[in-house]
Amino acid sequence: MHLYLDSADANELARVLPSPLVAGVTTNPTLMRRAGLGWDGLPDLVRRLRELGVTTVHVQVRHADTDGMLRDAREYLALGAGTTVITKLPATRAGFAAARALTADGAPVTMTAVVEPEQVLWSALVGARYAAPYLGRMDESGRDGLAVVGAMQAVARAYGTAYDPALRLLVASIRSREAFRDLLRLGVGAVTVPVPLFEALTTHEATLAAERAFLADAS
Ligand code: G3P
Repeated sequence: MHLYLDSADANELARVLPSPLVAGVTTNPTLMRRAGLGWDGLPDLVRRLRELGVTTVHVQVRHADTDGMLRDAREYLALGAGTTVITKLPATRAGFAAARALTADGAPVTMTAVVEPEQVLWSALVGARYAAPYLGRMDESGRDGLAVVGAMQAVARAYGTAYDPALRLLVASIRSREAFRDLLRLGVGAVTVPVPLFEALTTHEATLAAERAFLADAS
């Protein structure tokens, strides 16, 4: 399981990083806008994340055509220097074309805004490392998000393992501890959670109470 944090806010991320539990950070243009970050702020964000021990960062393209996506990706890949930049591409025909061009050159990609199981297969076919469905958004649109993710996981298991590295679902838009646990039951290969949910998932009152009692006895 690869656990990511979904945020473009370095101050928020600094509340919980460095952490041995975290594989990296996922961003998107909406998260960057919310963090008050323009594209010219991306190099600084990557540098600050590196200082926080983050060596894998997902950065989404900002064009809809294949050539534009490839220009974006080359710009992001140049940020490298100690950081693995994984280009996030929407799961459109243009996105899959850009993904194939990038993976042919050995660059890692994540297909994002994945809403149907067949898009997981397309992601495997272009050699993507991750396919990212949005669980909460699917639920909020009236679908049974967990059932859809389950069908996607079946595709990843059946077809994604033929590739090296194997394709993993990277489930995003996770709203609660219960939703996170549901995903564990499905056995998805990666999730990305907002920082407040990560804080909740790694804070256990009974553990803290037991620790306090032990510390009292130790003194
Ligand atoms: O990475 C995608 C994720 O940020 C979407 O989450 O909360 O906007 O549905 P949300």
